[in-house]
Amino acid sequence: MSSNLTETIYKRYVDILKDQRLPALILDKDNLNKNINDIALRADRLKIRIASKSVRCLTLLKYVLESSSKYQGILCFSAEEAVFLSQNGLDDLVIAYPTSQLKALDAVAEEVKKGKKIYPMVDCAEHLKILKQVAQKHNTTLSYCLEIDMSMKLPAIHFGVMRSPVRNLKDVESILKEDAKYPEIQLKGVMGYEAQIAGLGDYNPAFGIKNPIIRLLKKKSIPKIQKFRTQTIDLIKSKGIDLDFINGGGTGSFETTKLDPSVTEIAMGSGLFAPTLFDYYKNFQHRPSLFYALEVCRIPEKGIVTCLGGGYVASGSIGVDKVPKPFLPEGIKLTENEGVGEVQTPIETSRNFKIGDPIFFRHSKAGEICERFNKITVIEGDKICDTWPTYRGEGVCFF
Ligand SMILES: Cc1ncc(COP(=O)(O)O)c(C=O)c1O
Repeated sequence: MSSNLTETIYKRYVDILKDQRLPALILDKDNLNKNINDIALRADRLKIRIASKSVRCLTLLKYVLESSSKYQGILCFSAEEAVFLSQNGLDDLVIAYPTSQLKALDAVAEEVKKGKKIYPMVDCAEHLKILKQVAQKHNTTLSYCLEIDMSMKLPAIHFGVMRSPVRNLKDVESILKEDAKYPEIQLKGVMGYEAQIAGLGDYNPAFGIKNPIIRLLKKKSIPKIQKFRTQTIDLIKSKGIDLDFINGGGTGSFETTKLDPSVTEIAMGSGLFAPTLFDYYKNFQHRPSLFYALEVCRIPEKGIVTCLGGGYVASGSIGVDKVPKPFLPEGIKLTENEGVGEVQTPIETSRNFKIGDPIFFRHSKAGEICERFNKITVIEGDKICDTWPTYRGEGVCFF
């Protein structure tokens, strides 16, 4: 983008937000709408299940679901959250990560009894036993989703994430054997999330010389993922089990996940906001739609201005790519010494900022930033059009 254009965008945002309290979390709805459309196009034949951990705003989840029939259902990050969403009118809720919290599962069972579709995740016999007990206690049947492992193990590298221990067809067989013991629960979905493709950039400058190795490993792991996911589905179907969905992928893997004929839907959240971790993929580029504004609160010396707040570093392996990036105006940078601070964030700049001027930052991950703000200020065209509460603003915190 040209410097003139970024300067125009900066001035436009400053103008729109001139009477706003800072810090503020801002959503550019025009960019969000563009992302919603572009992502729907990327999905082709597949439905998109929204990964709510990367959103954490009920109004926004509803907005995306209503925007196009391509978006269907939520991939929740906790059982309590699934119940919250269900009680707020949403349905078709997959709980992406297993839990043994009985009270939360009790509440899930109560929602299921009301006719809601909620699928807890399992990957071992113990998970099945817990679900069976909950289903028995509530005199109902619980549907569940099985997560299979999509990582690739090489002699010195685990390429992928450490999640499900279901790594081969023998493991799937033994889950199916356990499942057959319990009429109270039924296998209704399969999830195979290829994190090493979907969540790992191809050209991330923070990875340096590892980038070509990552590209090579991705290329090697894609056919293995497809093979195991397809064989798993064939095996499950051969037992006469009828699945509601087969879920794969994430924002970074649409182009390869959709080539797997066994998959019926892709999980996606981050692409809606396009945080900085998603700047470095070869197949797509979405528009930054969510960012935050801090005020310049002091000017310690020429060439440095200091902002109030800002230290919202993202989770995951420790690295510079987890640090928020100064976004607008152009030509500003964090200091080596302090980075983004708990209460103060100094910025190196040659620009003549005044006390009170806003500086905009982008988060590295998508949804986590919503845990820092009660509301999102939504802008459209040249005005603020709405404010949407985050989960935090709704008074809920799942983890
Ligand atoms: C199980 C699962 N599926 C899909 C995703 C993709 O989400 P996103 O599009 O936000 O990267 C994630 C993200 O961590 C995940 O854990």
